[in-house]
Amino acid sequence: MKGIILAAGKGTRLYPMTKPVCKPLLPVYDKPLLYYPLAVLMQAKIRDILIIIPPGEEESFASLLGDGSHLGVRIEYKVQTIARGIADAFLVGEEFIGNDSVCLLLGDNIFHCNNFERILSEARQKEDGAVVFGYWVEDPRPFGVIEFDETGQAISIEEKPAQPKSNYIVPGLYFYDNQVVEIAKNLKPSARGELEITDVNLEYLRRGQLSVIPFERGLTWLDAGTADSLLEAAEIIKALQKSGQYVGAIEEIAFREGFITAEQIHALGEKLAMTKYGQYLLKL
Ligand code: G1P
Repeated sequence: MKGIILAAGKGTRLYPMTKPVCKPLLPVYDKPLLYYPLAVLMQAKIRDILIIIPPGEEESFASLLGDGSHLGVRIEYKVQTIARGIADAFLVGEEFIGNDSVCLLLGDNIFHCNNFERILSEARQKEDGAVVFGYWVEDPRPFGVIEFDETGQAISIEEKPAQPKSNYIVPGLYFYDNQVVEIAKNLKPSARGELEITDVNLEYLRRGQLSVIPFERGLTWLDAGTADSLLEAAEIIKALQKSGQYVGAIEEIAFREGFITAEQIHALGEKLAMTKYGQYLLKL
């Protein structure tokens, strides 16, 4: 399985904060936003990763993560020249995906859960079709919202509905088989001019191949797309890390997943030994 992070947003809604540095590279408490979705892909044991980036940012991304070899993964970068919507990731990434299945993560989505590996491995195990998740939110209107029948079966998804049919939204973590490339190619842009990920999910639903897994209560999901949600995310990460366990520490995950050795993580920690982050890595 391949992994794609769609991190192509310049973050114009966050100007002037994102004028000098694009959104995925902004800090969320003690690390760049991009670390959090990357950590999830690594927890899903995905080691072939494409990061879709905005034009003109090749150097900053490469200097942050390079080719991923220090983390025991392979990272490639591809520029999305025009912001055409989330499903465009499968067109930009067509060659990278090849004949494989793919997990897509949105570059501004943060997930935290103690047994996340188990949830991710359940989603990975399904060989055909698509797996998305359901997450309860107070105000679902800015998201893709799931409609359920009386038996709890998902029967529809609406993108940013004025009158949501439930409080369950689809967060930016999606697992697809290889049909996704052909489905994305046949999409028509929506009223807002985008290739909608919701339309991809609806096509899987129409084919009878969409699984919706509701997230358990202990899971934290944060969409860091606005100044308020970025600040809130930083506060939540700070509070979670107070317990001594870090969130989104990609070096730690590389070590725990067996992608790198104890010597390698020690060397990475040494380079950052002057920071709390580096000291944390050195203690693992
Ligand atoms: C996008 C998707 C939406 C999803 C959300 C999760 O919204 O279109 O279905 O629920 O991400 O973050 P957008 O970021 O385009 O507002």
